[in-house]
Amino acid sequence: MTPSSPGAPLQVAEILRLREDFPILQTQVNGHPLVYLDSGATSQRPLVVLDAEREFATTLNSAVHRGAHTLAAEATEAFEDARAAVARFVGADDDEIVWTSNATEAINLVAYAFSNASVGRGGAAAERFRLGAGDEIVTTEMEHHANLIPWQELAAHTGATLRVIPLDDDGALRLDENQITERTKLVAVTHVSNVLGVINPVEQLIAAAHGVGALVLLDACQSAPHLPLDVRALDVDFAVLSGHKMLGPTGIGALYGRRDLLEAMPPFLTGGSMITTVTITEAEYLPPPQRFEAGTQRVSQAVALAAAVRYLHDVGMPRIAAHEAALGQRLVDGLTAIDGVRVLGAGIDLPRVGLASFDIPGIHSHDAGQFLDDRGIAVRVGHHCAQPLHRRLGVTASTRASTYLYSTEAEVDGFLDGVSATIEFFGVH
Ligand SMILES: Cc1ncc(COP(=O)(O)O)c(C=O)c1O
Repeated sequence: MTPSSPGAPLQVAEILRLREDFPILQTQVNGHPLVYLDSGATSQRPLVVLDAEREFATTLNSAVHRGAHTLAAEATEAFEDARAAVARFVGADDDEIVWTSNATEAINLVAYAFSNASVGRGGAAAERFRLGAGDEIVTTEMEHHANLIPWQELAAHTGATLRVIPLDDDGALRLDENQITERTKLVAVTHVSNVLGVINPVEQLIAAAHGVGALVLLDACQSAPHLPLDVRALDVDFAVLSGHKMLGPTGIGALYGRRDLLEAMPPFLTGGSMITTVTITEAEYLPPPQRFEAGTQRVSQAVALAAAVRYLHDVGMPRIAAHEAALGQRLVDGLTAIDGVRVLGAGIDLPRVGLASFDIPGIHSHDAGQFLDDRGIAVRVGHHCAQPLHRRLGVTASTRASTYLYSTEAEVDGFLDGVSATIEFFGVH
C-alpha cells in the first residue's frame, strides 16, 4: 500500500483494495453482505494482524523477560519491538508505554496508583499523586463509564471530590474557567465522545489543568484509532488506548505515561515480573514500564497490536481521519434529513469522527438494531457505557453507527436507507 498525500481522503478504489485485507468483510449476515458499522465498539482485524499473532504462536511462543533460552530472548525482543511500535504511533518514548489488558485497566492503573500514593505508598516521590479532602478530580458528563467509575472510586477511597464538567442541551462540554482551580489535581477527559463522535477541544482543558499544576489523563480510545495522535504535542500526562478498537486483538491495551510520572508512581498490580528484590516482608520494584506489568503478559496480542499500528501508519492516519470525517458528516447529515430521527449532538459545532448516535422516538434502539441486523447491518444499541450522557440528553438508549478506514459511502447510504425503512416498518411517523 503506497501512502498518498497527507490528509487526502482515501479513494474508493483504495478502500475496496484494503477491504480485501479483512476477511470478515467478505462474509454475509442474514443473507446480506455484512455492513459493519460497529467499529466504535470493536474494529475488524486485517490479515497482517491475524498472521502476526499466529506467527508469534508458531515460531516464538515463550515467556518474556524471564527465560535464558533463545526463544525467550526472541520473544522478549518481539514484545519490546511491539512496545516501540505503539510508542512511535502516539509520539511517545518506548518506556513510556505500559501494556494493559484494555483501556479500562489502564485507567484503573492510574486511579489505583493515586489511591496507593494517598495512603503513603511510593514515599516522597509519589507525593504529587496523594489526594485527600479538599482535592478535586475533574471529569465530564460525557465520559464512557471506564473514565468515570474509577474516579468515583478514587474519590471514595481518598476523600477527594469528583467534579464533573456538565454538558449543554446539545451535548457539548460546557466549559468555564471556574471548573479547574488550585484544588484540581487530575483532569480525566475523553478526546472523542463514543456517543456523539465529536472531537473535544481538549487543548483548552490541558492548558488550564497544567496552569494549576494538575495532571491530565486523556481517554484516547475513540481518537487514536481514527486520528493522528501525538501525546507529546498534545502535552497530556497520561493517555489510554484500546487495542481492539484500532485493528488489534482483544485483551491488549496500553497506558502512555510521561516518564517522570511513571518513575514516581506506585504500582497498581503487584506480583511476579515487576520486582528487583523480594524478602518475606517487602519488595523493591523495577523501573517503569515493567513496574506496572505484573504477571505473565499478553505477548502475542502485543505483537499483533504492533502489526495493527504499522498497518494504520502505512495507510496514513491523516488520510484515515479525512475519510472518516467525511463519512461522519454523511452520517449526521443523512440521519438529520430523515423525518423522526434525532441525532444526539447534531448541533455541536466541532469536528467529528465517523460515528453518530440517534434516537427514533417510539422505536426502542434494540428494535431498530434488530431491524437493521436483518439487512446485514451491524450497529450498536443501548447506552454505549455512557448512561450519564444519555440521561442528560433525555434518552435511556440510542442506536450508534460507527465507521473505520474500511467503511464506504455506499455502506453509509445503505444504512440510512435501513433507518428510513425501520421508521416505515414500525409506522411511527
Ligand atoms: C471512550 C471509551 N473509553 C473507554 C472504553 C473502554 O475500552 P476497553 O473496553 O478497551 O477497556 C471505550 C470502549 O468502548 C470507549 O469507547
